[in-house]
Amino acid sequence: MNDPNGLVYHDGVYHLYYQYNPGGTTWGAMSWGHATSRDLTQWTEQPVALQARGFPDNITEMYFSGTVVVDEKNTSGFGKRGKVPLVAMYTSYYPVEQTLPSGKHVRKDQQAQSIAYSLDKGMTWTTYDAANPVIAEPPSPYQDQVLEFRDPSVFWHDQTHQWIAVVSLAKLHKIVIYTSKNLKDWQLASEFGPANAVGGVWECPSIFPLSLDGSREVKWILMLGLNPGGPPGTVGSGSQYIVGSFNGTTFVADEDSVYTPEEGSSQTANWLDYGPDFYAALGFNGLPRDKRTIIAWMNNWQYGGVIPTDPWRSAMSTPRHLALKTIAGKATLVSEPAARLSTHGGRTFTFRRLDGERELGRLGKALEIELSFSRKASLATEGEFGIAVAATKDYAQETRVGYDFATGQVFVDRSRSGEVGFDGTFASRYHAPLVLGADGSVSLRILLDWSSVEVFACEGEATITSQIFPSKDAVYSRLFSTGGETGNVKVRVKEVRSAWR
Ligand code: FRU
Repeated sequence: MNDPNGLVYHDGVYHLYYQYNPGGTTWGAMSWGHATSRDLTQWTEQPVALQARGFPDNITEMYFSGTVVVDEKNTSGFGKRGKVPLVAMYTSYYPVEQTLPSGKHVRKDQQAQSIAYSLDKGMTWTTYDAANPVIAEPPSPYQDQVLEFRDPSVFWHDQTHQWIAVVSLAKLHKIVIYTSKNLKDWQLASEFGPANAVGGVWECPSIFPLSLDGSREVKWILMLGLNPGGPPGTVGSGSQYIVGSFNGTTFVADEDSVYTPEEGSSQTANWLDYGPDFYAALGFNGLPRDKRTIIAWMNNWQYGGVIPTDPWRSAMSTPRHLALKTIAGKATLVSEPAARLSTHGGRTFTFRRLDGERELGRLGKALEIELSFSRKASLATEGEFGIAVAATKDYAQETRVGYDFATGQVFVDRSRSGEVGFDGTFASRYHAPLVLGADGSVSLRILLDWSSVEVFACEGEATITSQIFPSKDAVYSRLFSTGGETGNVKVRVKEVRSAWR
């Protein structure tokens, strides 16, 4: 699988649709898979929601990324006998030139926006063949982008009483914004971009509101995937965001959220996550504004098709709750795990002072770790403190998570994390800037799973998400402090129960 699609909370159920190949473990025959959950932790696999048309031998249409909305007021007219329709908007990708049932003619490899609806709470779907694709071509003057026009994200805009769709002109680093009263007829409203990171195509854009510091002031966030051209030190896919405002037609970026090279500033983007494996992030429709919850594809197009797993390939990130906080004078996205994990066997280790290495022993393969520590200002300029997780007994394999006092960065080092040879860029170290607390303290929350490590630093202003492929016996852990003594070390470790029923 790849991108999460159609995330929606409806009637007590979280729906996760996703880019899925029913015919193999590499990209192809793109369909919408489907899983549901009541708590964002335990997921139940459901039948494929939208299967590539003509699968397996004669595919004429694939279902690329998109979103789902609950059409409470039945603006679409798809509702029958009082049933509330769920409406999906997605990109139709046509591998062959053809004339569609709607009479519209499409080119080979064209990407266009289509809709489908469900009257049974998202379980089965009917494509709107009478008129699909409902947005057939990019707007003028961008018609030449017809092969690179995708990933609509739709939501209801209360203030202007209309539907909004944000679509990417991937190669131009632009988004286009459309409005609609009925989800069927769409009018172009505006465009935005390029801005900030433009190293690769822009994909999977979405915009959504959040209150700033929990106050009445609401800002809008544009969040999008970039492939390649992710955060510094990574290769391949990444996710960035821009803070701004939105009035129902136009997104305007805040001045301090965009960077121009002339400023001489080294910052080029606001990264949603500083690791290599956090892409195509999408939020749930159907939740209150300040319960914004996102899921990302925990993989990277750089090596997504060759990661050493079988029979599955790719997992989703843990769901994250987003908030907007003023940090160092700037509106910044912060994130924390949204789901309460089911854990057991809590253990706590405390060390008033620690220098060198300290064994923690066998901890396990799926862990929730809270680690906090501090350094005196005089020692906080060199060396590192952190924890090695998913390590073999001899530490030939380990994944190091910690803080680099010399550079002021949180890091994850997976260069010796296990199987790393399937891609030349995989064995690397990743870092995110993090200013020490006034008392010289750092706190890290680490979600370790069999094939991934997700790190949330301090208030969640720096996160690093990485896949790892350690061997079966990589269950050991130790702390390390270099370049001097680290104080007030506290480690709380809980084992996470399997999320599989
Ligand atoms: C992003 C992406 C989307 C596209 C989908 C196809 O990972 O390339 O732009 O809709 O994957 O599977």
